[in-house]
Amino acid sequence: MSTGTDRRDFLATAARSVGFAICGAMLGSLTQACETDLVRPAEDQSTGDRATLTLSNEPDLATDGGAIKRQFGTANAGNPVIVIRLSATQFVAFSAVCTHQGTIINLPRNGSNVMVCPRHEEEFRITDGTPQTDTAPSPLKSFPVAYNAADNSITIVF
Ligand code: FES
Repeated sequence: MSTGTDRRDFLATAARSVGFAICGAMLGSLTQACETDLVRPAEDQSTGDRATLTLSNEPDLATDGGAIKRQFGTANAGNPVIVIRLSATQFVAFSAVCTHQGTIINLPRNGSNVMVCPRHEEEFRITDGTPQTDTAPSPLKSFPVAYNAADNSITIVF
C-alpha cells in the first residue's frame, strides 16, 4: 500500500519536474527572442553619452547646409537634437529645445543661416546657436561633433 503511494508520489513529482523543465526551456527561448527585438536601429547608436552616424546613411547631411532633427535615446533628456553640416568636415549639433519657453525649433530652411522657433519666431544662428533677438535669453545648448574621415561618420558627444 505504501509502495503504491510512494510510486504515485514519485511519478507525480517526476511529471512536475519535467513540466518545469519544459516551461523553463520555453521561457529561455522567449527571453532570447525579446532581447533580439531590443536591438536598436542602425541610425540610433546612442550609448547614453555619444551617438555615431554613418554619413552614407544620412542623405540629408550629404551637402553643406544639410540638417537633420532626431532623438538619440535619452541624450538631451530625450529631446530632439539638430545636426547641421557646415562644410565637408565641419558639423554642429544643438538641442532643438528653444531657450525661451521650450518649444522645439525648426530645421534651417534651405540655404538659411538660422533655425527658427515656431512659437515666437526667435532665430538661432546655425554656426553657434546664438539667438538673433532678445526673445530667447541664451544660445541653444550645443554638443561637440567629431568628423571621422576614416569611416565617413560623425560622433556627437552628449
Ligand atoms: S518659445 Fe521659442 S521664441 Fe518663444
